[in-house]
Amino acid sequence: MRRQMVAGNWKMHGSRAANQALLAELEMSLKAEWPIDIVVFPPYVYLGDAVRMLEDGRIAVGAQDVCAESGGAFTGQVSAHMLKDVGCSFCLVGHSERRRWYHEEDALVARKFAAALEAGLTPVLCVGETLDEREAKQTEAVIARQLDAVIATHGVGGFARAILAYEPVWAIGTGRTASPEQAQAVHSFLRDRIHLQDAKIARHLRILYGGSVKAGNAAELFSMPDVDGGLVGGASLSAEEFQQICAAAAVRH
Ligand code: PGA
Repeated sequence: MRRQMVAGNWKMHGSRAANQALLAELEMSLKAEWPIDIVVFPPYVYLGDAVRMLEDGRIAVGAQDVCAESGGAFTGQVSAHMLKDVGCSFCLVGHSERRRWYHEEDALVARKFAAALEAGLTPVLCVGETLDEREAKQTEAVIARQLDAVIATHGVGGFARAILAYEPVWAIGTGRTASPEQAQAVHSFLRDRIHLQDAKIARHLRILYGGSVKAGNAAELFSMPDVDGGLVGGASLSAEEFQQICAAAAVRH
């Protein structure tokens, strides 16, 4: 079966001291024998520190974004090769906050996905609908569009080395989680869509759920057959909460 994954998206939170305390506490509390993958996504400037602290440990490190270009005159940007160079193994692409506040469109997200793969990083492609889109019954159309843009650019083959994350925008940071059934419905829609092109990739692809995942709701979300773990924002800033979410994923492996 697919191995569960728990990913902590710290967003623009933390400081050297706070990160060190959080990671030290996590390293002590996360059990080495849990058969799950765990990754944290600190802000860019703290990636090197996190990699050094977590060396040889069971927690991997990823970036929250990546530039689609491989290098050159792009002030303020960070390339996939640079992320790989400092020891990252993952990067988020297309998080809804990037799409919304930085106007990232599907085509750019698809190029970022390709740049990550090319550098040997595992991209975590985020897709999800807004509340208006859900209420207008556009959920499937929106996430299909977001997914298809990546498939059109890179082919379905990229998903053999990628992770997908369903993050309904209305559930992010709102305390309003999708019900396990709502999450399952979208996850199985996404898997079926990949399956149309490649059954094997679809079977192995991990699809994480994100949007107000907490210790109190993780177990029921992760019990759904197509939910392969969580992309956790707010709750990943508390070692105790994050540890409990990981424990819930370890039970359903
Ligand atoms: P949240 O964020 O868990 O705070 O809702 C999830 C995310 O944006 O990845």
